[in-house]
Amino acid sequence: MSKKLIVAIDGPAGSGKSTTAKLLANKLEYLYLDTGAMYRAITFLALKHNITGNEPEIVELLKRTEIELTYTDGVSKVFADKVDLSEEIRSQEVNSNVSEISKIKQIRQILVEKQRQIGALGGIVMEGRDIGTVVFPNADVKFFLTASIDERTKRRTKEMQEKGKHIPEDIVKENLLNRDKIDSSRKESPLQKAKDAIGVDTSSLSIDEQVNFIYKEIYKVVEQKRPHFEQDK
Ligand code: DC
Repeated sequence: MSKKLIVAIDGPAGSGKSTTAKLLANKLEYLYLDTGAMYRAITFLALKHNITGNEPEIVELLKRTEIELTYTDGVSKVFADKVDLSEEIRSQEVNSNVSEISKIKQIRQILVEKQRQIGALGGIVMEGRDIGTVVFPNADVKFFLTASIDERTKRRTKEMQEKGKHIPEDIVKENLLNRDKIDSSRKESPLQKAKDAIGVDTSSLSIDEQVNFIYKEIYKVVEQKRPHFEQDK
């Protein structure tokens, strides 16, 4: 594929976004950006400083913290002021607080700006909740992944188990439902499918099937846009 595209992948937690986006980025030799990790990092720091209830302080903390994401050899990492927080941001405590912090308008403005800078040159697969609607409404191709709540719960529970965290399924399910509710109903850029996004229900798809389907759809878009890309050269 000649032109470097911006690929947006949105959807709720456990819909298969991360796995799909990473594999796709590898296949396309693109950058991969997990925007959720940015919201998780500021949530972790707010918890650490005990300021989760104080919006202005959280905003100030974010302004003076350098959040960096890396993706090397299939592994994505998040750093705050050079400190690796990749493990810490996946804790149950962060899971339970991240949606509330993601609602804060100024937090979103700062992080969205950062995401736009990183993706500006294209050649990127960006995953999140508002990539196709707010961060890059003109993304070349957009996907909105969904899956049944039971399937998402199973996947998340297994993922946690693999990291040595044994959390009962009902707790995982409750957290997912709670986050869905807050993420979808918030005023600032709620989780929603962009009108021009391709919907993919991953409930009964294998990872390979998901990635192949999305890859083919991207190819279709490239073919449709080819005359326009040629002009851009
Ligand atoms: O993708 P994730 O589950 O790691 O995201 C964690 C939270 O971050 C999610 O519940 C809502 C928030 N988020 C967001 O508001 N906007 C994004 N673009 C990505 C994540």
